[in-house]
Amino acid sequence: MSIDYSEKIPNNVELSGNKTLQRALEHWQPGFLNWWSEMGPDESSNVEVYLRTAISVEPKGWAHFDYVKMPDYRWGIFLAPQEAGRKINFGEHMGQPAWQEVPGEYRSTLRRIIVTQGDTEPASVEQQRHLGLTCPSLYDLRNLFQVNVEEGRHLWAMVYLLHAHFGRDGREEGEALLARRSGDADNPRILTAFNEKTPDWLSFFMFTFITDRDGKFQLAALAESGFDPLSRTCRFMLTEEAHHMFVGETGIGRTLQRTCEAMRQAGVENPNDIEKVRSLGVIDLPTMQKKLNLHYSLSLDLFGSEVSTNAANAFSCGIKGRFHETKIDDDHRLEHSTYPVLKLVDGRIKRVDEPALTAINMRLRDDYTNDCQRGLDRWNKIIEKTGVAFRLELPHVAFHRQIGEFRDLKISPGGQILDDAAWNAGKDKWLPSTADGDFIQSLMKPVTEPGQFATWIAPPRIGIDNKPGDFEYVKISA
Ligand SMILES: [Fe+2]
Ligand SMILES: [Fe+2]
Repeated sequence: MSIDYSEKIPNNVELSGNKTLQRALEHWQPGFLNWWSEMGPDESSNVEVYLRTAISVEPKGWAHFDYVKMPDYRWGIFLAPQEAGRKINFGEHMGQPAWQEVPGEYRSTLRRIIVTQGDTEPASVEQQRHLGLTCPSLYDLRNLFQVNVEEGRHLWAMVYLLHAHFGRDGREEGEALLARRSGDADNPRILTAFNEKTPDWLSFFMFTFITDRDGKFQLAALAESGFDPLSRTCRFMLTEEAHHMFVGETGIGRTLQRTCEAMRQAGVENPNDIEKVRSLGVIDLPTMQKKLNLHYSLSLDLFGSEVSTNAANAFSCGIKGRFHETKIDDDHRLEHSTYPVLKLVDGRIKRVDEPALTAINMRLRDDYTNDCQRGLDRWNKIIEKTGVAFRLELPHVAFHRQIGEFRDLKISPGGQILDDAAWNAGKDKWLPSTADGDFIQSLMKPVTEPGQFATWIAPPRIGIDNKPGDFEYVKISA
């Protein structure tokens, strides 16, 4: 299924056959481009970037690579092909044909979910907008920009759903998505993690590994939706999301590699000898662990409360399923089953069986945690191979939480409940301190010679699109 690039708005949804919708989106488009020029990557409008663009929506072979100036990127509307006879696969409506139009009684729930997802897309572009100025290489700069333009396209994907299915309030939501700003005191983005700063490249890599992975799980749950246009939209977005997580995983992997190699070469045995490791111009492993703790705990909050009637309703209605819903071997209605949830009981953290319906968020979060852990295992292999004695670990899910069961408690990365004094004494060992941030910042010097890399990160093993190591991924003086 190919995409029509002859249109003002590239699409595979035959937009030209729906003049009202086409006009509404063409009306939104200049606002989007204004937002991009105001809030998109700093000083980037003239650089030529070796970007991939979707040319079809088939799972394999949809990408075309070429130099593009980002404001000329062909953002558009791409849905995975419609499956004939697709059914609703869970909840009260299980077995009925998937909806092609929004069911009236679920309109506000669906709108809220689409707006919340949509809001994260421009938010991450805003969070990352200054990073280009301190890129560790042209290869990394290109990857940052690729992620940014695709998040821009994900905004298009959600705005299309709002315009196509929610009439006037959908159009108003589309405007509001361009008006909110990450970190703004008066008009912030909807979710906390998307109002945090992404101050350096280590944060960017952690964010794309950890927070884009939350995106993967949210999109995967929405890809199961009984509302077919939402399902099809999310299925195509997931193919793009995979690259974002690749950027994060390999970015951290290369940073670990470089740190460990530098330690070996200099004969530094102790990973906790922070001053010595830092003097080598690389990022010490305990600081990497702190960054991981921060991003992981912020991202767990994105899954919402462990026990949630909203989540139960979205499932029962057939709007939002579980991860790989159709592969799960149960009745897909969950009216009589339970799911274990970590809760605070008599001052201790315990597993408690809750009705599976209200524990839907918890289940998605557990699937997410397992997926994160697999990534960590691969990172730990990289460290292990160098012979450095250090392992990265996910902190306890109750650590540093602002939403859900544990939000009012102070809990160590190991899962111990602490008083204020113990928390304050340990905090700087568990979360990045101002001094850590300053050190990382001191390494963030731009490297823009083709084939060259900053001191703190190893080159990638293979280039993008199989390009050679010294390929000019970004032409800055274009
Ligand atoms: Fe996205
Ligand atoms: Fe993403």
